[in-house]
Amino acid sequence: MAVREVLRMGDPRLLEEAAPIADLDSEGLHGLVRDLWDTMAAYGGVGLAATQIGVPRRVVVFAVADSPRYPDAEAVPATALVNPALHPMPGDKEEAWEGCLSIPGMRGLVPRYAQLRYTGFTPEGDPVDREVSGFHARVVQHECDHLDGILYPRRIRDLRNFGFEAELVGHPSHVPE
Ligand code: NI
Repeated sequence: MAVREVLRMGDPRLLEEAAPIADLDSEGLHGLVRDLWDTMAAYGGVGLAATQIGVPRRVVVFAVADSPRYPDAEAVPATALVNPALHPMPGDKEEAWEGCLSIPGMRGLVPRYAQLRYTGFTPEGDPVDREVSGFHARVVQHECDHLDGILYPRRIRDLRNFGFEAELVGHPSHVPE
């Protein structure tokens, strides 16, 4: 088990585009995925991208079950996804509040595709192909953005909807998740 340091916004490594994984089912990949799960659990997150621990490779993990950070979010199956590709489905984007382990203590109102299909591989090399919506779709988009060097504040339409979580409770549009 290895809990790694999560880089915080301002670290230039969070702005880099990550490279695809060439060798699926390798010892190095399995070790990276273990570190991502251990680190996500230690920090209490619902998702983590390899770039956030300083590894510029296209690997993300996510899982939602009884998260104190998102108590009302529907469950999302624990998923380690390698070389993901997103395929948005027709329809409007919807806005909801997001946080990020790289931006501790803050939340923003972020538009995301409400429904999408995503593809990729498990660390063992099995293909993944899912159609998802709601919080599952949101988490995947947030984590895959990290692989392109994008942090969620860049997606916020109106920066009045960005601030410290403890203060946003009184914000007119803030609905606790
Ligand atoms: Ni994040």
